[in-house]
Amino acid sequence: MQLVSNPGKQNKKIRQEILTTIKKVIDSGWYILGSEVEQFEKEFAKYCQTKYCIGVGNGTDAITLALLALDIGRGDEVICPSFTATFTALGISATGARPVFADIDEKTYTIDPKDIEKRITEKTKAIIPVHLYGHPADMDPILKIAKQHKLVVIEDACQSHGARYKGKRVGSLGDAACFSFYPTKNLGALGDGGAVITNNKKIADKIKMLRNGGQKNRYEHVLLGRNSRLDELQAAILSVKLKYLDEWNKKRIKIAQKYLELIKSPTIKLPKVQPWAQPVWHLFVIQTNNRDKLMTALAKKNIMTQIHYLIPAHLQPIYRPPAIKLPTTEEIVTKIISLPIYPELIKSQQEKIIAAINKKPLDINLSTDK
Ligand SMILES: Cc1ncc(COP(=O)(O)O)c(C=O)c1O
Repeated sequence: MQLVSNPGKQNKKIRQEILTTIKKVIDSGWYILGSEVEQFEKEFAKYCQTKYCIGVGNGTDAITLALLALDIGRGDEVICPSFTATFTALGISATGARPVFADIDEKTYTIDPKDIEKRITEKTKAIIPVHLYGHPADMDPILKIAKQHKLVVIEDACQSHGARYKGKRVGSLGDAACFSFYPTKNLGALGDGGAVITNNKKIADKIKMLRNGGQKNRYEHVLLGRNSRLDELQAAILSVKLKYLDEWNKKRIKIAQKYLELIKSPTIKLPKVQPWAQPVWHLFVIQTNNRDKLMTALAKKNIMTQIHYLIPAHLQPIYRPPAIKLPTTEEIVTKIISLPIYPELIKSQQEKIIAAINKKPLDINLSTDK
């Protein structure tokens, strides 16, 4: 059996609950923007400690719609890290605004507040920090810079459902925040899904219109909107899964703690949790100079690792030129490896992974799930 994140395993555990929910939605005859979406929006806003949640088609659209709701678009600049899923930048580009890439802090892999300041121009309208790998960005200095320069802050929390910054849920700190419910996320749908959360009623009301063709009333289009709605089926499934999110996050935290305690290799750099962070470990990313060798050695033992992300946004063909140098990002992308981390990873499997990394004798049979 390959050790790799597989949302099917998680869904199998709550299969009956999911099936009951799917049947309920089928029988309701109502599939778009109904009571299931409303219910999930209420529950997820409460979970994130914000007033409003608006379900949308995916995390990329969540970023686009949040920016559009704040009147950001063509001619504007939005600062975001290059070291992220390039979808963060695509969400910006879809508005017509230009993503301006900043470097990251090597300790957190998240946007470096000092580098943000260097990139502010008269065209800058917003900052999008990304809570990458489940670890929050350092929000206080970011919010301070934003206040000084009158910029809005939209959190990209697509990888951090449930994480906290200084005790507060990520997503509740900026003007708005965006989530993805891609199946492998800490909270994942059985397809695409996303949400924007905010405490600002005006933003929430505008996104509600924008996601639904810009309609104020049925067939009355007052904004240049999109079709980007979370559907009833995914919303109902997400409501089922939200009940388990804390439990699943706890399992991820336990797995991460074990990696941090037991990986002992002089050639490997482990992630460091900052004192102000309560991460939820969407990914567990280590650094090594021998990436290819280690990945191959682990793959031979059916331990599947990945690279998040091989090409940073500023070096993607779509964003070149203009070329800029982001030294920390460019160095780190050559060294990172994501180790398996998901709630269903059992003790013996993790011990096998740790042993393989530490190059201890391997005596645990991976093919068993016990
Ligand atoms: C940090 C980050 N931002 C944005 C996105 C885009 O989300 P989606 O795939 O739901 O459009 C993702 C997911 O891939 C992500 O990880």
